[in-house]
Amino acid sequence: MNSPLSSIVILGTGSYLPERIVTNDDMAQIVETSDEWIQARTGIRQRRFAAEGENTSHMASAAARRAIEDAGIDPTEIDLILVATMTPDMPFPSTACLVQSQLGLPQCTAFDIQAACTGYVYGLNIATSMLQSGNYNKALVVGAEKLSGILDFEDRSTCVLFGDGAGAAVLGCSDVSGVGMIGGIGGADGSNPEILCQPAGGSAIPPGTDSLAARQHFLKMNGKEIFKQAVRVMGQASTDLLEKTAVDADDLALIIPHQANLRIIDSLTKRLGIPVDNVFINLQDYGNTSAASVGIALDEARHSGRIKTGDLTLLVAFGAGLTWGATMVKW
Ligand code: UT7
Repeated sequence: MNSPLSSIVILGTGSYLPERIVTNDDMAQIVETSDEWIQARTGIRQRRFAAEGENTSHMASAAARRAIEDAGIDPTEIDLILVATMTPDMPFPSTACLVQSQLGLPQCTAFDIQAACTGYVYGLNIATSMLQSGNYNKALVVGAEKLSGILDFEDRSTCVLFGDGAGAAVLGCSDVSGVGMIGGIGGADGSNPEILCQPAGGSAIPPGTDSLAARQHFLKMNGKEIFKQAVRVMGQASTDLLEKTAVDADDLALIIPHQANLRIIDSLTKRLGIPVDNVFINLQDYGNTSAASVGIALDEARHSGRIKTGDLTLLVAFGAGLTWGATMVKW
């Protein structure tokens, strides 16, 4: 059992992107759009789509396998599995249970987190608290999405934005104080769920011929409204966490924001007054991968040398709900 006073640290990270690259020009073959419009409005150049039969759990397991290897731990040490996703393999059982089985992990606590694009950041904060409780030793946190399965390829205002993939981290304890997960916050406002949702498939509108005909089983979004809210809550979550952890924005070595839109990220950097070089951006390659986005970005940042020992890194996300969250990591 951990001492409740141990630091909780990220021991390893991993990510997985499906092989199939879909460029903006490819999207222009499907809907009336152009590479110029997509790049100018979002910064996205291409995205990855999962293969037929390649499910969220498979991508989650692939990223998790890499994170476990990177952490250099024995997989049998994992006693908590959290999978953040809004595109689970099926409504139940959870994708976390499927990952447990696919990787042959111990029969431990395993559940999904549904906080849309904020899910991975929620997951890191939840895992940190559960490890701090002393009841768990090693946690696997995964963000994974197969958004291509819920996109409406007749709606150009949404289908060009999203992609598939997975990002994972293994968390454990350290006797070194003042390192690792030094603070986290989260929030939600459920008063306008319809601005970003998948209307059918749940208890409100069970799947049926009517819902299929009305295309209600696809992702729906009021892009302009989400954009406004995203700018507000990403900025607020970041400044709230900086205040809570007594960190100055100038002392942040890197910010890893949810990769939805370059213009949203630009306004965040302006609000925080930090140079754009201190922000990790990979949305040009993968589009918006929802719950996977911060996990993939964190893994790429670590393995490309953008994070060094002693660095302070702020991870921040927003998503459907509306949800938002941030977490501060000292490496
Ligand atoms: O993880 C959270 C998920 N969501 C987000 O983060 C999305 C946040 N919102 C956004 O990123 C932006 O609102 C969008 C990228 C979705 C849209 O950008 P916008 O600058 O808000 O464009 P708009 O919706 O105001 O559309 C401008 C024009 C419209 O034409 P008219 O009415 O001005 O003639 C649209 O019909 O662009 C048109 N349009 C397109 N044109 C070419 C919309 N989608 C496309 C498209 N290609 N794919």
